[in-house]
Formats: sequence, structure tokens, C-alpha cells
Amino acid sequence: MSLVASLYPALKPWLFKMDAERAHEWTTRMMRIANGFGLLTAGQGSLPQTPVQCLGLNFPNALGLAAGMDKSASAVTAWSALGFGFVEVGTLTPRPQPGNPKPRLFRLPEHEALINRMGFNNVGIHAAVKRLEKRRCKAVVGVNIGKNFDTPNEAAVNDYLYCLKVAYPVADYIAVNISSPNTKGLRDLQAEESIRQLLGALKKEQANLQKDTGKKVPMLVKIAPDLEAAQIEALARVFNELAVDGVIATNTTINRAAISGHSLEKEAGGLSGAPVKVRSTQVISAFRELLREQTPIIGVGGILSGADAQEKLQAGAALVQVYSGLVYRGPGLVKDVLTAIA
Ligand SMILES: Cc1cc2nc3c(=O)[nH]c(=O)nc-3n(C[C@H](O)[C@H](O)[C@H](O)COP(=O)(O)O)c2cc1C
Repeated sequence: MSLVASLYPALKPWLFKMDAERAHEWTTRMMRIANGFGLLTAGQGSLPQTPVQCLGLNFPNALGLAAGMDKSASAVTAWSALGFGFVEVGTLTPRPQPGNPKPRLFRLPEHEALINRMGFNNVGIHAAVKRLEKRRCKAVVGVNIGKNFDTPNEAAVNDYLYCLKVAYPVADYIAVNISSPNTKGLRDLQAEESIRQLLGALKKEQANLQKDTGKKVPMLVKIAPDLEAAQIEALARVFNELAVDGVIATNTTINRAAISGHSLEKEAGGLSGAPVKVRSTQVISAFRELLREQTPIIGVGGILSGADAQEKLQAGAALVQVYSGLVYRGPGLVKDVLTAIA
């Protein structure tokens, strides 16, 4: 185990006294510094690596960092050094934006959960791409793209197309985020006709870019857990029809049933961590039954242990990602998951 992973249990009570977003900024900064001194890679020899071929890419292992943790691609090399086989940066928008007013990130330790309404705070796609051009790491890097908060849904396609074109040369894969609850109207893009139009335009552009650059960058779609069976069927139909390269299931939930009675229950935003685990796994199973066999699923939502990751793989995911689990379990979760899925 790396030094940082073994320090986390001692640091956690102190971090949890800090405002959640400040703690996140502090840990990211510390990680970058630790990586500069080679401290993150020190324990890597003990991490079991089971490479996975998926999406036409070679993943050093099946565990990824979920979008939102490194929104602006500021620490990709450090995440890779920590042992992640892939890192999804973003969500990135065409123009930089500050996101929602603070506070906008809340911990619910009783439930091992988070509520966030960050609102796509990010440095903008151009600045992130500049950072990614310089990266030197083993991890596969996905670029998660979205629309600016003030772009109406009717024009959303332009924002996604813009980000796709700018990110294409540096991305190993692109994730189209249509499932964040914190950008007004974004999840409406999951409606059958909206998604058909949006993805139709993006697939066309992806084909053009492939012709121009000679490289195929797979494009995945990230979906919400709050979908009825009929919506799941409609989405799967469109994904199959357009030969979408993969699906990321799921984003955070707006459902509060699992935390009913908690003092933060009424905070607006997406709920993540343990309370979303079961639903996210159900959505993975449902899509696995409906999608073409060759369309992989990245399973994400409530993975707090190696066994949780195994459940996602058993439900049909080819790869998994974590976010909230890292807050509650620290970098030791990387070893737990890699050991369980080895
Ligand atoms: C603070 C925070 C910010 C997030 N930001 C994004 C984002 O920008 N784009 C995105 O696609 N998902 C975002 N997510 C969702 C995560 O990538 C993930 O899908 C979700 O949290 C469920 O996984 P978890 O239970 O392991 O956290 C965010 C999650 C959290 C907690």
C-alpha cells in the first residue's frame, strides 16, 4: 500500500472537520505534491494488475476514477500513480464556468453518501486539453463533456460538438454527460427524440474526426439512475440504433428515499455513495440485457469495497469507477477493488 493510502485513516477525521469542498481541494493539492516526490507510486508493486481490453483500448486495470473528482484535469498523473487504470476528467464545457454558489457539496457520513450541486465548475475544454496534451501516465484518460449552464437545450448539441472536436485529439474516450441533475434541463436530453438527435449529430462528427485524424476515439453516454423501465428501453434502442460505443451507468440520484429523515435530505443536488449502489446495479443489469453484446458498460455508483465492484461486474459492467467511496475509504479502496477483481 502506498504511504498516502496508509496515512488516510489518520487524516480522515481531520479532513471531515473541514468543509467538504475545501477538503477535496486540499487532498488534490497534496496528492500532486506527493506524486511529485514519487510517494504515490511507492506502494504500487503491491497492487494486482489485471489488464482489460475494452472499447478498443488497453486498460492497465478495470478500475477508474469517476467524473467530477478531477473536473479540470489537474492531477491525472497523480491519479494514475495511485493505481487507477483509467481517469475520467470533467465534466468540461466549451467555456470555463464557476458552477453554483457554495456550499454545494455535503457529506452524509451516516449513509456513506454525498450530496452535490457543483454545477459543472471547470476551467473550460481548451484549458483542460492543454493540460492533457502534456500528460505522461499509464492510465487511459476519458474526457467527459457537457454544456454550459446558460446554453439552452435547443442549442446543447453545439456545445457537445464543440467539446468533442476540441477534446478528440487528446482523449482516449469521450463521455457524453446527459445525466447531471445540477444543470437545469440537462437530463431532459435523455428523452428518446432529444437523445437520438444529439447522439446522431455526435456520431456523425465522430466519424468525420476519425477520417481526419486516422484514430477512432470511442464515445460513451453517461446516464442517470432515475429512469423508468420504458425510458431505459427507449435509450437502449437509440444506443443500439446509433451504435454508441459504450454506456456509463450511473450518475448521482435525485431520489431521497434512502436518506429519508436525514437533516440534509432536502439539499438540492445529486446523491451518491452507498444509497445509489443498488439502483445503479439494477440499471446496469437492465442495460446489459438490452444493449448489443459488443457495447460495454462502465459501472459506477456506490462502490465502497471490492465486493461492491464485483457486484457491478457480475451485473454486466466491463469496467468500474469510484468517486464517493474514495472520500469514505481513501486510496486504500484502490487496492481493495483491484485485489477483489484480480
Ligand atoms: C462532488 C461530485 C461531483 C460530480 N461531478 C460530476 C461531473 O462533473 N460529471 C459527471 O458525469 N459525474 C459527476 N459526478 C458523478 C460521479 O461521477 C458518479 O457517477 C456518482 O457520484 C456515483 O458514483 P459514486 O457513488 O462512486 O460517487 C459527481 C459526483 C460527485 C460526488
